[in-house]
Amino acid sequence: MADRDPRDFVAAPGVPTCPGDSVADILARDTPRVPPEISADSFRDLGTAPIAAHRYTSRDFFLLEKERMWPRVWQMAARDEEFPEPGDLVVYDNLGRSVILVRQADRSVKAFWNVCLHRGRKLRTESGHAAELQCPFHGFTWATDGALRHVPCRWDFQHLDGQDMALPEVRCDSWAGYWFVNWDGKAPPLADYLWPLPAHFRRWNLERNTTAVWVAKRIPANWKVVAEAFMEAWHSIVTHPQILPFTGDANTRYSIWGDHVNLALTPFGVASPHLGPLPEETIIEAFSGGAGRNPTESSEISLVPGLTARQTMGARNREMLRALGDPMADEASDSELLDAWTYNVFPNFSPWGGFMSNIVYRWRPWPDEAMTLMEVRVLARAPHGAPVPRAAEMILLGDDEPWSSVEAWGRLGAVYDQDMANLPYVHEGLVSSPNDRVELGRYQESRIRHFHQTLDKYLATAP
Ligand code: FES
Ligand SMILES: [Fe+2]
Repeated sequence: MADRDPRDFVAAPGVPTCPGDSVADILARDTPRVPPEISADSFRDLGTAPIAAHRYTSRDFFLLEKERMWPRVWQMAARDEEFPEPGDLVVYDNLGRSVILVRQADRSVKAFWNVCLHRGRKLRTESGHAAELQCPFHGFTWATDGALRHVPCRWDFQHLDGQDMALPEVRCDSWAGYWFVNWDGKAPPLADYLWPLPAHFRRWNLERNTTAVWVAKRIPANWKVVAEAFMEAWHSIVTHPQILPFTGDANTRYSIWGDHVNLALTPFGVASPHLGPLPEETIIEAFSGGAGRNPTESSEISLVPGLTARQTMGARNREMLRALGDPMADEASDSELLDAWTYNVFPNFSPWGGFMSNIVYRWRPWPDEAMTLMEVRVLARAPHGAPVPRAAEMILLGDDEPWSSVEAWGRLGAVYDQDMANLPYVHEGLVSSPNDRVELGRYQESRIRHFHQTLDKYLATAP
């Protein structure tokens, strides 16, 4: 299942795409080449019908999502490096459901409903470490494997003798260092749900990465408004004009895979089609001043004689991979070292692919249809053979703190401030939509349409 042939889906002829260089053209010039099993495209024309604006703003629609979609999907709940040692645990909350993921003595992971079986207190409100899971109310205590260990005043609970009092488990499974939970016993296995990600990410070995920077903020907009701002690159033309000299925004390639996975592949080191051809020096100069998705790298870089800007940037990143002792350094293509391979996993998780420090997004309604908790992580690869360091602590920004106030990620924060300057006003506008319609670009916003079509599949049936 995990290696299904990408040609299962046939590209739709007749859907216009940006004139000029395509991603396929750019990849064809790269050496070494991206392996075909990763570079293959997959697209379907999903149509042009408008999306109803009330899907973002209506309380009833939100409650339908809560009842029919969220309990049935695989949700990314943690990364390995957040809880590496036995007894380490992570609390993951979403829409009133809470789960505790606990590292076991054999380093496997169990996920439990985060509810005391006595009178229902949440067992843990924060991630951390525990030798056992003791409820803070009256002290019912479970071992980290979920077995009931201690009941204070046991004489008063003799009626529980013989009753299964182990903590109920939630389905959990992992891929690429990520741990997912799913409350639905009938949901497909994680590997099928994620297809074709496991095959794509095989070379990139994200298990060797740690969360180097982790920033979160509450955004006053519906969770889909926020997530969809990261599903297309073409808003760069007005929202992020400073990246256009080194970003293929309008010629980003959008791929639609199964119900749950799609990809935007945005080439870097090439000028935006909006700007036309630029001198290679201009591309490098703009990149040096404005890129920097790796918090540890210096963004200063100058053109290597005989190489294009893209080749220079690829070579620089290949050298960084080599310095980590990574055995894939010689095989890594410029695209895998440089471009934004922005995958989306339905409904609220977006891991970037490739070899370099990768960005990861997660969005949760927090707590209702008009507010979102957005988290951004920057992953950094551990040197080959060295242990993967523990995750950095999450920085929760206050409502008035800009993303750019985080120094650890250089200029990346300023890009998110540009995005967030739109999103509350997108939500405000949608609330007062005159025609209850949102129009989407047929190609560049195909991932948004794909997302809504999958959402509709969940909403159509009761759990
Ligand atoms: S509610 Fe947990 S011990 Fe009483
Ligand atoms: Fe953006």
